[in-house]
Amino acid sequence: MRLLKFILINLFFFGLLKAPGLFLGKPIPASIVSMYMFFIVITVLLVMTITDKGAKGLFAPIAALVEDPSKALIRNIVFVIVPVVAAFVVYMQSNDAFAPPVELRSAHPAPPAMVKAYGKTFDLATLENPYRRLAKEGPVAFSALVREGGEVYFKNCVFCHGPKLDGRGHYANALDPLPMPFSGNDTIAQLQESYVFWRVVKGGPGLPREGGPSISSMPSWEASLTEEEVWKVILFIYDYTGNTPRSWK
Ligand code: HEC
Repeated sequence: MRLLKFILINLFFFGLLKAPGLFLGKPIPASIVSMYMFFIVITVLLVMTITDKGAKGLFAPIAALVEDPSKALIRNIVFVIVPVVAAFVVYMQSNDAFAPPVELRSAHPAPPAMVKAYGKTFDLATLENPYRRLAKEGPVAFSALVREGGEVYFKNCVFCHGPKLDGRGHYANALDPLPMPFSGNDTIAQLQESYVFWRVVKGGPGLPREGGPSISSMPSWEASLTEEEVWKVILFIYDYTGNTPRSWK
């Protein structure tokens, strides 16, 4: 009886924690539910075993199951079914675990042909930085844009990519893979601006599987930077490092 009570009380609280998800469409995160359940089960156990009599009553059915000779059949059934169910649950959860881990990370995976962002579709094969032509046509306006790009950089990117754009920002030591450096002629100099645009807009989550989508901390900026800001920060990272983007020519 007491064991049943124990189970029912815990089920009641479990239901209470699950209710917002089931009825209001606002689920409590599973990790929080399991944390709360841990404390609830411990508390109920403490309260119910506070006297010796209570503890005996609670554990009597379990003891009887293991010890009582007349319960041999139930005992055998329970001891077969429980491991089988446990094995089944583990098996179902581990489906993906047999796939080999993606160890070799390609730093510059092939980009998609099209990128959807800002309510448009960009064709990466023809996409160009709309401000790039100003470098020749209007140097004054161009350096103003580079400055604005610098502001975007130092507000958003410096923490990871570093004040010297060498990939050694404050957070860098905690990140794996490391933030990419932009300095040096083997980095963004090898990339077209459309590629860089894709990387900034879609970030780590936009990487194909070979790029290790789940491990890159590079954020996707499409929600927090405008299209213009992205193009300007790209102007800045090339300008500051003295690199020129790769072009089709
Ligand atoms: C939380 C840290 C973090 C922040 C903030 C961050 N990045 Fe990154 N970024 C990374 C990491 C890590 C990589 C390398 C892994 C990858 O390629 O996704 C990366 C890669 C890149 C690349 C690809 C470079 C290449 O050679 O392929 C570009 C471009 C880039 N970041 C631009 C930016 C810009 C612009 C900003 C600011 C608007 C920014 N990042 C902010 C962590 C960050």
